[in-house]
Amino acid sequence: MKWPEKVTIKEVGPRDGLQNEKAYISTEDKIAWINQLSETGLKHIEITSFVHPKWIPALSDADAVACGIRRKPGVTYTALVPNHQGLERALKADIDEAAVFMSASETHNRKNINKTINETFPILQDLVRETVSAGKSSRGYISTVFGCPYEGNVDIEQVIRVSETLFEMGISELSLGDTIGVANPPQVQEVLDVLLKRFPADKLAMHFHDTRGTALANILVSLEMGITIFDSSLGGLGGCPYAPGASGNVATNDLLYMLLGMGTETGVDQHKLFQASQFIQERLGKALPSRTFQVECSQQEGKLGNIV
Ligand code: HMG
Ligand code: MG
Repeated sequence: MKWPEKVTIKEVGPRDGLQNEKAYISTEDKIAWINQLSETGLKHIEITSFVHPKWIPALSDADAVACGIRRKPGVTYTALVPNHQGLERALKADIDEAAVFMSASETHNRKNINKTINETFPILQDLVRETVSAGKSSRGYISTVFGCPYEGNVDIEQVIRVSETLFEMGISELSLGDTIGVANPPQVQEVLDVLLKRFPADKLAMHFHDTRGTALANILVSLEMGITIFDSSLGGLGGCPYAPGASGNVATNDLLYMLLGMGTETGVDQHKLFQASQFIQERLGKALPSRTFQVECSQQEGKLGNIV
């Protein structure tokens, strides 16, 4: 088996990771954490979300976080934006990239952003245009690609329709979200078979939540099909409050461990990633889900031998 020489990891911990957490992380700690992440070798960090603070209270300090972090040259700092008001805030905070988002399923779209799919298109069209004309890049997300918490199966035609429309708007890259972690390898293969006939592999990213433990298997299949961009969250934090049952993203730590074993280059420093994970674990006051990270913690405490 031939694996790609290089993979890009897009860290979504400060946004997806924290948006569903009950414990409120202070602005100061969020900034300190993102500054640590900037030093790990990660080149893409989604730092926050300029959504309505009542909808996502955990990220109500988006403006202060985006303005407070130390920008490391060469790192792209992204934020989620749902509408014009969100983009205005994001541009004022000088983010590098705005990520627009919508769902492939009607019900999740409405529950998440209070709009139908058809109402969402013109909003995102304006956002992408304004983002690009402000000299920033525009990333797109589609949620519920592999299943919806309200509707179950999602028609692939709907995924194609939303993907094509987002690319026509001018997004630079599309992230395919398994919002509730239901995808399995044959399904990933089926969906990518269809999408890769329409879009180049280097324009697609995969965003797997690991609710049922299938995220790494799904990533492996995606790698085999030529995908080299993956979203992940430090320690395996994450989840969408408007998708019942959604739990954490695939852990950056677990993904890095697997890629290191495959000889794939990511540029990410495992030890610095461990330190940043320790920091947020302490602040959240609970064990992070990442199994790789928990093994590393046990090794550090001398409970396990040095079994790599
Ligand atoms: P709405 O209530 O329909 O908004 O919410 P509205 O336009 O009717 O405005 C109502 C009020 O909100 C107004 O204030 C606006 O000014 C204010 P009022 O006049 O009543 O005082 N408002 C805002 N304030 C600050 N920032 C804003 C903003 N917009 C309006 N940006 C809205 C619509 C989209 C805002 C809301 O539904 C929302 O914020 N939703 C976000 C939900 C969310 O963040 N979900 C999680 C992220 S998506 C995800 O996790 C999936 C992903 O990871 C991929 C995957 O896993 O599949 C990306
Ligand atoms: Mg997500």
